[in-house]
Amino acid sequence: MIRVLIIDGGRQTCDMLAGCALSLGYDVSTGQTLTECLEKVTSNPPDVIFIDGQLPDGSPLEVLDVIHAAPSSPTVIIMTEGGTPESAEMAIRNGAWDYIPKPASMKEMTARLSRVAQYRRQHQGSERMAEIKRNGIVGNSPTMRTAMDMIKRAADSDLNVLITGETGTGKELFALSIHLNSGRSQDNFVVVDCTALPETLVESILFGHSKGAFTGADRAQDGLIRQAHRGTLFLDEMGELPLPLQKTFLRVLQEHRFRPVGSQKEVESDFRLISATNKNLEQMVAEGKFRGDLLYRLGAMTIHLPPLRQHPEDIREMAVFYVEKVCRRFGVAPKKFSDEFLKYLIRYDWPGNVRELFHVLEHACAAGLHEETLFPVHLPQELRITIARSLFEDNHHVPRNGGNGSGSSAAKQILSLKRFRQSAYSDLEEMYLRNLLTSSAGSIKEACALSKLSRTRLYGLLKKYNIRH
Ligand SMILES: Nc1ncnc2c1ncn2[C@@H]1O[C@H](COP(=O)(O)OP(=O)(O)OP(=O)(O)O)[C@@H](O)[C@H]1O
Ligand SMILES: [Mg+2]
Repeated sequence: MIRVLIIDGGRQTCDMLAGCALSLGYDVSTGQTLTECLEKVTSNPPDVIFIDGQLPDGSPLEVLDVIHAAPSSPTVIIMTEGGTPESAEMAIRNGAWDYIPKPASMKEMTARLSRVAQYRRQHQGSERMAEIKRNGIVGNSPTMRTAMDMIKRAADSDLNVLITGETGTGKELFALSIHLNSGRSQDNFVVVDCTALPETLVESILFGHSKGAFTGADRAQDGLIRQAHRGTLFLDEMGELPLPLQKTFLRVLQEHRFRPVGSQKEVESDFRLISATNKNLEQMVAEGKFRGDLLYRLGAMTIHLPPLRQHPEDIREMAVFYVEKVCRRFGVAPKKFSDEFLKYLIRYDWPGNVRELFHVLEHACAAGLHEETLFPVHLPQELRITIARSLFEDNHHVPRNGGNGSGSSAAKQILSLKRFRQSAYSDLEEMYLRNLLTSSAGSIKEACALSKLSRTRLYGLLKKYNIRH
């Protein structure tokens, strides 16, 4: 039987909708607040939720991902008095089935409800249950399940997708996963890093060139856009695309045709676009740094990947996955984690997200290479100091042996802004230094030139973070 949950502050609306659902023979429960809604989606999982857009304790728009991640993956209809086109757009983008004005007649509501029920019956067992190839994506928290659900929807459609999220949250990994799960998986996944497009060659890199188009062009060459024909074009760091190129690219996106450098003839490319950014493109549009018409086209579907600190439940699984991988690479037996080691991982805020977690775990595996179990001592010293300090600053005591779960509630504590900044700063500094050494292939001279640091200062920083060179 279809189960309907109705959440509305007004008794009249609740009664009217309950009447509609009962007349169709559905099971009904009601509530008045967002908190009640969140309780009921887990305690008595509904198939369909009718919910008011403005409840006394918040808006459902803010928790739609949590609602969708409930065991029954409910279909959500938001009812609103005085909604705006923007909120309607936001609701649909976030996966609401419908966003409707209040009040509506009983006849209208009954018709709407029976359509949703019909859809649920048709799709039950097929749409949501269909397995998706994870290709290395780890995590089963509600947050991750929502993200995987979005991947599935994106893979099933051919819409342009914009993936947003902080650095290291997995934007590229998720983009690849959409491609591999889509009907285009047999063709190329072409990555364009918009930060690394040299100004003088950018057009030829993207659009290709004909023979003799410029000195050195001794044969015609396809550009990256043509290489993505029938496949997926992934524009990484989209916010960095220079404004003049945004205009050209908008046309390519509309026409799927373009002219290679030096050529008279246009070339076609049937690509599907996925773009990613850690910038706030809407703000960039407001500041005149990004074209609004392009943003509108890019984000037919937007997937936001949350920072790791918002789903610490996944840290254990991610750590097990990655440590096993590193141990295989090092040719040693998989390692166990001490309780304290895990608590430290969960306690930390991970400003560099999953990338930083993996990086730290690699460090820990190297530090405890011949040991069976990893302890906090194997973590980078700066990270241990940050966490150890936070335990005292926040007046928290982490139990030494076993504990009773208070560690995980401590983990959910919000750090003071000052401490958060300090730890983020140190970690970013360390990440920067490691990248710097990789980019300069370990040459201190080159690293000084790139970073504009003096030799003494660079040595001082490398020592501070215990980085060997
Ligand atoms: N959910 C996940 N499961 C497993 N690995 C992950 C997950 N999320 C991210 N990673 C890993 O974290 C690292 C960083 O991911 P990725 O390069 O996709 O991040 P990004 O969001 O593109 O970062 P940036 O904005 O800095 O380019 C990669 O090694 C990726 O495989
Ligand atoms: Mg990336």
